[in-house]
Amino acid sequence: MKNTDSRENFSGSIAAVLALAGSAVGLGNLWRFPYLVGENGGAAFILIYIILAITICLPVMMGEFIVGKRSQSNVFRAYTSLTSSGFWRIIPVFSIFSVILVLSFYSVVGGWGVEYLVKSLTFSFTRNGAQSELGSMFSDFVSNPYKPLVFHTLFLGMTAAIVAFGIKKGIEKFSEVMMPTLFILIIIIAIRSITIPGANQGLKYLFLPDFSKVDSSVIMKALGQAFFSLSLGCGTVVTYASYVKKETNIIRCTGTTALFDTGFAVLAGCAIMPAVFAFGINPSEGPGLVFVTLPHIFSQMPVGGLIAIIFFFALLIAALTSSISLLEVVITFLTEELKISRTKAVILSFFLFWILGALCSLSQGVLSDLKIFGMNIFDFMDYVSANILMLSGGLLTVIFAGWVLGPKIIREELTNNGSLKVPLWLVNTMLFCIRFIAPVGVLAILIFS
Ligand code: PFF
Repeated sequence: MKNTDSRENFSGSIAAVLALAGSAVGLGNLWRFPYLVGENGGAAFILIYIILAITICLPVMMGEFIVGKRSQSNVFRAYTSLTSSGFWRIIPVFSIFSVILVLSFYSVVGGWGVEYLVKSLTFSFTRNGAQSELGSMFSDFVSNPYKPLVFHTLFLGMTAAIVAFGIKKGIEKFSEVMMPTLFILIIIIAIRSITIPGANQGLKYLFLPDFSKVDSSVIMKALGQAFFSLSLGCGTVVTYASYVKKETNIIRCTGTTALFDTGFAVLAGCAIMPAVFAFGINPSEGPGLVFVTLPHIFSQMPVGGLIAIIFFFALLIAALTSSISLLEVVITFLTEELKISRTKAVILSFFLFWILGALCSLSQGVLSDLKIFGMNIFDFMDYVSANILMLSGGLLTVIFAGWVLGPKIIREELTNNGSLKVPLWLVNTMLFCIRFIAPVGVLAILIFS
């Protein structure tokens, strides 16, 4: 059964791409990608990342898109509405667990972003610019039992408010205005960073590969990051694709999204690494890179105060366009399956994610001794979602698309029943990637890493 009766749609392909790109471009690009590049060999990591994004992630994204567009249903009903086998109910289970884990820690880091935007607006970094002071400023803040909760509440509140307005007036409008703004902001910062004297070392690090650091764990991290960055395996692509119009060109839509996301990640690298090298800082600073190292650099560079404001504003926009896509997965379920009004569904989810996020936040301080498999709650949620749940959900979806829906339906969807002039070789290559390369690739990486 399709839920077409009262469903909204994106107003066109551009709106859909902007929303999808909004989901993809986020903290993953600005916070995670640069430090993973820093820790895992610079350009070599980027190269592996791009290869995996094209050969594995793009086909998975197409698989998810086909399921959403064809079923026009929320993620829970999408798979079972396309097949009679009950086995595939397992995929939405992976999706919902991924969404719950990701949104819980995501809204905490989003909250840190809000706090750092406030700090940059009050020029706090220029006043306490030493790296060690900024390091303790960050660790004192995240381990404080109350302050991060206030900002977590603010971030989640903004996410909920946008989603409450619905697809066209909320998600679409916000992405339409914010995504171009985001690209302009990151380009401004990249230009500033590249023009600092000594920046070329950073550019070399980003663009000249050194494969000596690459091993199977680096490949696993690159794939986990590519999945996270492209929002795969969480049901967000299925959900957004269920709102697109029938004439949408799937190859163009997913290809553009992947291009925007990867392009933005590389731009974020260009905004950060040249400055890191120019100021003689070790690039493998880990997760503190954005919240400790960058503020230190901002405090040292000319017009750094302004660049800091632009950077943290960009971070906040990027995080919001992603968190709304996560929340929408849950809202579509609550409104369509449990028949709750959108407003009630938003309020209910706000409380659920507030509590889970609060646990995550407190695990940085008072609850830091509470360990799950040796990790605190925050790290556990991050690790399990990016390295296990999203990969497994994505793997099952691409198997579902390639082998349960099968070549005939994939061809129909990629060409809109032959009405689109897509070259045959492209359709066949994508079909081959969906059926063989992507499932075998994800499986191999899951097993060998
Ligand atoms: N892609 C987002 C980022 O890079 O920050 C994070 C994300 C959003 C992951 C939506 C998963 C998801 F479903």
